[in-house]
Amino acid sequence: MFDSGFGGLTVARALIDLLPAEHLVYIGDTGRYPYGPRPLSEVREFARQITRHLIDNHDVKLVIVACNTASAAALDDLQHEFDVPIIGVIEPGVRSLVSATRNGHVGVIGTVGTIASGAYQAAVAAADPGVKLTCAACPGFVEFVERGETDSDQVHVLAERLLAPLIDADIDTLLLGCTHYPFLARTISDVMGPDVVLVSSADETAFSVRRLLTGSELARTEPARGRGEGAVHRWYSSGDVSWFRELGRRLLGPELDHAESLVWP
Ligand code: DGL
Repeated sequence: MFDSGFGGLTVARALIDLLPAEHLVYIGDTGRYPYGPRPLSEVREFARQITRHLIDNHDVKLVIVACNTASAAALDDLQHEFDVPIIGVIEPGVRSLVSATRNGHVGVIGTVGTIASGAYQAAVAAADPGVKLTCAACPGFVEFVERGETDSDQVHVLAERLLAPLIDADIDTLLLGCTHYPFLARTISDVMGPDVVLVSSADETAFSVRRLLTGSELARTEPARGRGEGAVHRWYSSGDVSWFRELGRRLLGPELDHAESLVWP
């Protein structure tokens, strides 16, 4: 799986918890983050390069695009281009979103690239045309997470400004349509208030992976089935790997002690 940085760790956590027997290779493309403000065509090229790298160098059986911006930019192309199954985070997130709403009015927040791509607007309309959707881009949120600043006064002030249109729109459910945002859940929830349910795509994406693996007999089996002994997790960063280890340990856990450096040619 891959993301521009630390965000995909929210999906990795859900995946390891649900499928402890699976080997995992995680690439945080921190040397080129943030993806959100970049043209979608550039993000598509990054996604293609990383997917090729995972298949050629790690022999992966499935790729999870654990980044909404890259899913919006590249999922269809990757699915056509590569032979292994490729799963994104947008459809699973939308499934959780439309099933969680009670008043039929929902919100999605994401990067500028994700929201401008129209991917969520199309996915929500396809999942349930009766649901009313309000979207907002939240430039700056990803940078706060990458700096490890998840509940400072500054991020709170920014959240109050960026989330105001969603409060005005009277939504009852908000999808965190960027895999970095669950790390800001406390701040976002404080600003949105107790009546708005926050939904992330991490768990639902892990469920999609499990369905796909078991449905196609690709799931890894081991003697102590399901307990995770023998599963190898490898973590790579294309940027500052010591920071990746340090913040990664805080966000995901001690597994990130072993993060390795990845240098693009
Ligand atoms: N975590 C990525 C996402 O879900 C975005 C981060 C970025 O802007 O790099 O969209």
